Amino acid sequence: MIVVTGATGTVGRPLVELLAAQGVRLRAVTRSTETAALPAGVEVVVGDPARPDTIAEALDGASAAFLHPRAVGDAAFEFAKLADGHGVRRLVALSAINIDDPLTAQPSRFRGDRNREAEHAVVDSGLEWVSLRASSFAINVLQSGWNAQIRAGDVVRGPYAEFAESPLHERDIAAVAAHAFLTEDLLGERVELTGPESLTHADMVRIIGEVIGRPLHYAEIPAAMVRQGMVARGFPEDFVDSLLTRYADGIGQPAPVTDWVEKILGRARTFAEWAADHAAAFRN
Ligand SMILES: NC(=O)c1ccc[n+]([C@@H]2O[C@H](COP(=O)([O-])OP(=O)(O)OC[C@H]3O[C@@H](n4cnc5c(N)ncnc54)[C@H](OP(=O)(O)O)[C@@H]3O)[C@@H](O)[C@H]2O)c1
Repeated sequence: MIVVTGATGTVGRPLVELLAAQGVRLRAVTRSTETAALPAGVEVVVGDPARPDTIAEALDGASAAFLHPRAVGDAAFEFAKLADGHGVRRLVALSAINIDDPLTAQPSRFRGDRNREAEHAVVDSGLEWVSLRASSFAINVLQSGWNAQIRAGDVVRGPYAEFAESPLHERDIAAVAAHAFLTEDLLGERVELTGPESLTHADMVRIIGEVIGRPLHYAEIPAAMVRQGMVARGFPEDFVDSLLTRYADGIGQPAPVTDWVEKILGRARTFAEWAADHAAAFRN
């Protein structure tokens, strides 16, 4: 029995689907069953992993658990201790490739994500552990609103055209997480997961265009204007400043690319494959 926190999200949902398809017994944790829509046969547990006592019973009889940093929030150490107390033997944490950077250079912290604590909690737990240090998710481009811009025209306006990422397909992260549960291969590893290629914002827009059959291009707009727009849309100012500083500092450097995904899964999905899987989001 594996308990999955963050089970309805970007990484958790494909992880649940992959494990369920392998016949693994699962308890998927969500704060609301209304949005869960998880595969048949998966036990849905309603609770808030950020208050681990609300899901304590779900840990009974579980051999392993997925610690999702956004879902667990500030309670990562409490969650790990509770899991240990309930006889869980293995913890797999989702974390991030930048967790050793200064905290101010980790934009997601300003939105409450606790990727560093998620890794530290599993490492310090005394249980078997794996930490998945993910690079930027390819799906961030939807959260940045590129899809709406592409549906409306052939230009994506945004900051720093030449900033590079190595975007990861969410299904690859989930598949590596499934591997971490189902084999001994990754125990005690801080697995640095990236996509297979370093791509600038401009490259990524061009590739989406190639996939959907339209010539698209990225038009850089000044960081100050981007800042103003993001703050007006409700993003916290310190988050926006940290993000734009990360872009500015990274200009001219390729994004790190590791071969972990390819070694573990035998192949790593490209950004073009990700765009093909999400092509509907870019078409009217
Ligand atoms: N995006 C990137 O480029 C990137 C890169 C590396 C690492 N990361 C890290 O990966 C994590 C995000 O993963 P993801 O995209 O899979 O997450 P997600 O889809 O946003 O959230 C996963 C699930 O957690 C629950 N949840 C969301 N916000 C919550 C909150 N504020 N409090 C409690 N529960 C909440 C929701 O489940 P219910 O509503 O069902 O309870 C949600 O479905 C973050 O820690 C992020 O920093 C992201």
